[in-house]
Amino acid sequence: MERILIGDAVNYLGKEIKLSGWVNNRRDHGKLIFLEIRDRSGLIQSVIKPDIENYKSAKEIRPEDVLELEGEIISRPKGMENPKISTGGIEFKIKRLKVLAPSVTLPFDIYGDGYDIGEEKRMEYRYLDIRRPRLLKNLEKRHKINLFIREELAKKGFIEVETPILTKSTPEGARDFVVPSRLQPGNFYALPQSPQQYKQLLMVAGIEKYFQIARCFRDEDSRGDRQPEFTQLDIEMSFVEEDDILRLVENLLTDAVKNLYPNKKISQGDWPRIDYKEAVKKYNSDRPDLRNDKKNPQELSFLWVVNFPGFEWKETEKKWDSAHHPFTKLKIENYKEIKKAPSKITAYQYDLVLNGCEIGGGSLRITNPDDLETMFEFLGHSKTAIKEKFGHLMEAFKYGVPPHGGIALGLDRLLSVLENEPSIREVIAFPKTGDSRDLMMDSPSEISKEQLKELRLKIEKKRKQ
Ligand code: AMO
Repeated sequence: MERILIGDAVNYLGKEIKLSGWVNNRRDHGKLIFLEIRDRSGLIQSVIKPDIENYKSAKEIRPEDVLELEGEIISRPKGMENPKISTGGIEFKIKRLKVLAPSVTLPFDIYGDGYDIGEEKRMEYRYLDIRRPRLLKNLEKRHKINLFIREELAKKGFIEVETPILTKSTPEGARDFVVPSRLQPGNFYALPQSPQQYKQLLMVAGIEKYFQIARCFRDEDSRGDRQPEFTQLDIEMSFVEEDDILRLVENLLTDAVKNLYPNKKISQGDWPRIDYKEAVKKYNSDRPDLRNDKKNPQELSFLWVVNFPGFEWKETEKKWDSAHHPFTKLKIENYKEIKKAPSKITAYQYDLVLNGCEIGGGSLRITNPDDLETMFEFLGHSKTAIKEKFGHLMEAFKYGVPPHGGIALGLDRLLSVLENEPSIREVIAFPKTGDSRDLMMDSPSEISKEQLKELRLKIEKKRKQ
């Protein structure tokens, strides 16, 4: 007999079918045993009467055992219906049962929302935590948003291009995760903080409309809205103005909300664009929350913060740094004049804010190789360092580079706001702790002496246990 999904069981009233899944709940009423069975499509109440063949083994069934069941779908007795679930009008009368795999008692409850359970435990047993309907729903929503984005951008002429994970340091303001090379001992790859340079090189390559649902890696302290490894919707376009990029994202996200979150309301049809200076002056923040009612979980307030300053002063290092990244185009004609008054220079740079959370950022890019060099010099890189770190980009820009710009949206953050989750960890299948550990896999972990030797690495001092 072919397995039927619980969600489809309503279509089989009066028929014999086979269901498989987990025991969500078990109740004994005298000789009758009631099992609530769960698969990823839903829940169904099932009943076992003492006259079935293996009634004895049924007595030993425990929550979270995996069962294969055959039986008949019947109507629930009058007054026993449960309008809260889609299978609330029916019941599964079990005739044959097989325990496919038993389960020991779970380390925590998976039937509630789980917010009150220690997060470290939830992370250690994430595969159980994901059985929780809230987490399953978050992952399904994530999948749907990814699908929607891919389809919409493809319709608009974008192509998704995968860029390397083993790469070279790209300055996005955080530390790099590095990977030692076995074949080039003493040399290291860096994991990308974002695909920034690759996407710009794809513009030189003539791709014109690029996107990627891209994994990014930044070695920084995790917080509620930061993970060492996170996902961006990364976009880059050629021959566009700032307005084209903002409109594209505005339309994409408005359509996504309409289709996937029909109950949510976007506060303003045309998303406000606020000058960085004005935002800071008026709201004392570069990511103001302009919701009318912050208690209303269905309200979405998107806004753009534009005209960011090009530079920020780093007091510790006593030097100017890019406010975004060094590839950002400045609103000046002559780059030789940067040093005259760096604090006054603004850039073609924008952030997207949703309900007070920075969910995206991007800019138009410098495409003139001389200007780029002037920029790097101003930021304190020597000529040799520029060649070493960014030579490939400057070289590429000699061969006919189109004007271009783009943006990256933090998909984890976007999703956590849409799902009203307090942390991005709730929308990531296998997140890391605040100190960047994967408690389930016990990573990072030591590697063998042989591996170290092969990589020609020596550990100076054993880490504290
Ligand atoms: P930026 O560094 O602003 O820009 O990153 C874009 C968006 O990515 C999200 N984000 C994060 N999400 C979770 N954990 C993190 N550690 C984390 N860091 C950033 C934020 C942020 O707005 N290459 C440029 C984009 C461009 O210029 O096109 C970039 O990465 O939501």
